[in-house]
Amino acid sequence: MSDPKKLFIRTYGCQMNVYDSERMAEALGADGYVATDTPDDADMILLNTCHIREKAAEKVYSELGRFKGLKADNPDLKIGVAGCVAQAEGEEIMRRQPLVDLVVGPQTYHRLPQMMEQVAKGEKALDTDFPEEDKFEHLPVRHGAKKAARNPSAFLTVQEGCDKFCAFCVVPYTRGAEVSRPVDRILNEARDLVERGVREITLLGQNVNAYHGAGEGGDWSLARLIWALDKIDGLERIRFTTSHPNDMSDDLIEAHGTCAKLMPYLHLPVQSGSDKILKRMNRSHTADSYLRLIERIREARPDILLSGDFIVGFPEEDDQDFEDTMALIREVKYGQAYSFKYSTRPGTPAAERALVDDAVATDRLHRLQALITEQQRAIQQRMVGKEVGVLFEKAGRLEGQMVGKSDHLHAVHVHAPDGQVGDLRRVRIVDSAPNSLAGELVG
Ligand code: SAH
Ligand code: SF4
Ligand code: F3S
Repeated sequence: MSDPKKLFIRTYGCQMNVYDSERMAEALGADGYVATDTPDDADMILLNTCHIREKAAEKVYSELGRFKGLKADNPDLKIGVAGCVAQAEGEEIMRRQPLVDLVVGPQTYHRLPQMMEQVAKGEKALDTDFPEEDKFEHLPVRHGAKKAARNPSAFLTVQEGCDKFCAFCVVPYTRGAEVSRPVDRILNEARDLVERGVREITLLGQNVNAYHGAGEGGDWSLARLIWALDKIDGLERIRFTTSHPNDMSDDLIEAHGTCAKLMPYLHLPVQSGSDKILKRMNRSHTADSYLRLIERIREARPDILLSGDFIVGFPEEDDQDFEDTMALIREVKYGQAYSFKYSTRPGTPAAERALVDDAVATDRLHRLQALITEQQRAIQQRMVGKEVGVLFEKAGRLEGQMVGKSDHLHAVHVHAPDGQVGDLRRVRIVDSAPNSLAGELVG
């Protein structure tokens, strides 16, 4: 028998791409491919790409250029581009980089095996449809294969796409309209993950809290889904990301106070603290409505750690708009945040507008990031002396050390010589380093 063909996947962008890469590896696994962790010996290279900012998208082309030598050495090597750049640029990718054999969008990768047949015949394959059928229902899975053990923490996509059309954002175009997966399929997938050793599930969606999947008695909210997951024995922790402020419903806020498995961490992007800019971004919330929402969430779960996303230098952002964003950050006190300089995305409404001077935007980004870092450190410092749960994900660098995530999603290093990956242990935090905490086992 010949050696199995080797597949190398490189993943860019958000957690949903991480999830999709796993699904694509499974689909190609059914086709006889096994994963390899280097492109050098691969028979198939797949880049799962991100289109959110110009830099992310351009990186794909420089990466593809680097595979030229590999393709020269091995003419049978196949190269594919998947994900949001594939969706946004389609055929253009093959024009710009002729060594690409296959382009597949985020909604059609269940068709990869058929596309690979085409590619094997020496043809180019391209599919960036938004099909009627649900890809998750049509994904080939490897029959008879032993179910692989999993990292104790797993992602599970429950909702995809976005109908919000923020003026700067490509997601509604690359991922398509908002769709929720049915409840029973999600619960089955969750049970399967738990059987394979998963103890923490992060529910994914571009607007995960807009979830409204079909379940018993009609459409279910995200909170109702969380309560159903809460009943799965062996599943210890539930998280979800990313949420939109406008979809933070009462039952979800309440669940943060009453569902013990729902972890005290919430990623709730606001983007800006200026009402003028929020309006121009088409965010349909104000700084004040966001702050009031945060207040209600903290009433339900006082120790919740809040995280956010910010864009600085959005077209027409002036000094006062930026100061409004800084004021909002000072009021909320974030435990963590992602911040970006505005990047023009072709085809989005904001692409037509006057840009902020780049040096000004860079300066604002640095100031904002310094403030977030200060808040993050202060919150970490306040964890010292507290007892938290830590789910061990891997061995640490030091002898007898395990590394895992706390309830609040802090990385924690713990001296635990008897520790195993997948253990959920009580840990007292004893120290805070810039990007992690140190703890010791309790009892
Ligand atoms: N669905 C999520 C996030 C989607 S993209 C939400 O609604 O919040 C992740 C983050 O990338 C966004 O929150 C935003 O902060 C940033 N982003 C999106 N488009 C951008 C652009 N054109 N320039 C800079 N940052 C952008
Ligand atoms: Fe993009 Fe806005 Fe949709 Fe988030 S809510 S994915 S930022 S359009
Ligand atoms: Fe990027 Fe697409 Fe995710 S643009 S952030 S990979 S939805």
